[in-house]
Amino acid sequence: MLNSFTRLEGKVALITGGASGIGEATARLFSEHGAQVVIADIQDDKGHSICKELQKSSSSYVRCDVTKEEDIENAVNTTVFKYGKLDIMFNNAGISGVNKTKILENKLSEFEDVIKVNLTGVFLGTKHAARVMIPARRGSIINTASVGGSIGGCAPHAYTSSKHAVVGLMRNTAIELGPFGIRVNCVSPYFLATPMVTNFFKLDDGGALDIFSNLKGTNLVPKDVAEAALYLGSDESKYVSGLNLVIDGGVSVANNGFCVFEQSV
Ligand SMILES: NC(=O)c1ccc[n+]([C@@H]2O[C@H](COP(=O)([O-])OP(=O)(O)OC[C@H]3O[C@@H](n4cnc5c(N)ncnc54)[C@H](O)[C@@H]3O)[C@@H](O)[C@H]2O)c1
Repeated sequence: MLNSFTRLEGKVALITGGASGIGEATARLFSEHGAQVVIADIQDDKGHSICKELQKSSSSYVRCDVTKEEDIENAVNTTVFKYGKLDIMFNNAGISGVNKTKILENKLSEFEDVIKVNLTGVFLGTKHAARVMIPARRGSIINTASVGGSIGGCAPHAYTSSKHAVVGLMRNTAIELGPFGIRVNCVSPYFLATPMVTNFFKLDDGGALDIFSNLKGTNLVPKDVAEAALYLGSDESKYVSGLNLVIDGGVSVANNGFCVFEQSV
């Protein structure tokens, strides 16, 4: 039986956006659980310094701009060259885009910048992971979407559009790749204070996010999302595919306009 702390023993994971926030927390957790981890990001110093900190000599950093096919191709090839295979692809890199909520103020270039990272990046990551997972006839692909991938009104248009599309791409690829033994799923967090969000809302370092939450008594932190990715990357989820695993304390199933339950208990 697997030791509860080595749920990814023998597995190789590639994590885009692994130098910060959710990706960093996932790199750390995956490494604790015995995985060999490749961090792919555009923040070279942060990526290298996290790799140095990780316990084993089993992590590496590769510079990878997820909007560039040659970078993703290289990140996947480097992973397979160094560690022999790719078991888990975590397509997690993402940006919020500019803080403009009105469609008339949105420039085409600003819209496309977000789509390129958040959607095209996931497409390219899925494509090149599938390239090496199909011959192996196994693998787990995990994409970071968002609650903004299921509901409207909680993020600017480009972000919401990109995350809805990531969920659609996950569902389509789960169907195509299932016959090859490859599972594809999403993790979809609610707001949490990572650099992407603190910069977007112009919060000071460590500033609290004062955003409506349904579940009281706890706050969403990057490790909570990493734990969901750990489940989807491990064999514990071996029959789970096509799932959008929402990590939002129930907020996206609430109807804020009308509720029969007492909200301040
Ligand atoms: N923080 C939240 O509230 C929240 C909620 C829902 C979903 N998400 C999603 O979680 C994912 C991770 O974001 P985070 O909150 O950890 O933010 P973050 O800013 O801490 O991390 C994002 C990482 O992506 C990297 N990145 C950005 N553009 C890139 C590119 N072109 N190529 C490669 N790497 C790139 C950044 O360098 C950074 O390391 C994103 O997809 C984001 O949309 C975040």
